[in-house]
Amino acid sequence: MAPTLDNYVVAILILLFALPWKAKSMDSHQHHDGNGMKSLHFALFQHETINKTGYIVVNGVAGPGVSQTTTPFGTIFVFQDPMTVAANRSSKVVGVAEGSSITSGLDGLQSISVAKISLRLKRHIGSISIVGGTHNIKPSDHPVVGGTGDFLFVQGYVRSSPVNLHGLTVTYKIDFHLYWPPFVAKSS
Ligand SMILES: *[C@@H]1O[C@H](CO)[C@@H](O)[C@H](O)[C@H]1NC(C)=O
Ligand SMILES: *[C@@H]1O[C@H](CO)[C@@H](O)[C@H](O)[C@H]1NC(C)=O
Repeated sequence: MAPTLDNYVVAILILLFALPWKAKSMDSHQHHDGNGMKSLHFALFQHETINKTGYIVVNGVAGPGVSQTTTPFGTIFVFQDPMTVAANRSSKVVGVAEGSSITSGLDGLQSISVAKISLRLKRHIGSISIVGGTHNIKPSDHPVVGGTGDFLFVQGYVRSSPVNLHGLTVTYKIDFHLYWPPFVAKSS
């Protein structure tokens, strides 16, 4: 039987409604491959305001002074930063990054960071924990060491890239590349 005009109209309507929906729901494009691997890729923006969401709690001892991009060797910095869906600080907050970093490079540019990122996405609620080296002015990959809630047993990495390092609030783009081991994907 030949498709009728009605069929085309319905198909076009479904496409029109499906497309914007897909773009908005950031955790909708999760994948299951044939081997039961589940993965999730999305990006958020972390905003850090000096002396408001992030503080130096121990002063460093050597190297360059405190600037937008450097801190003296040994500086301990603690933060609780909001994470939004767009680079604009006024966009919707869907996550919080809590953690600390210790300046470990004598150039003042590199640190070791530990963070818990709490996420409230459309289909995934929970936290992931990351640890690794951060470069203040270059993209850095942080291994994911685990998670809680819908992110229990999650693996992968988080790439942090500076977006805006000027002014009191600095912004980083955080790309999440998350993978669940087969034994979790099969039971969920
Ligand atoms: C943040 O607070 C510290 C300690 O009070 C102060 O020395 C520093 O100048 C402040 N930084 C900014 C950018 O306000
Ligand atoms: C950020 O979002 C606010 C509120 O939605 C808007 O008024 C403002 O123009 C936006 N700023 C930029 C730079 O897009």
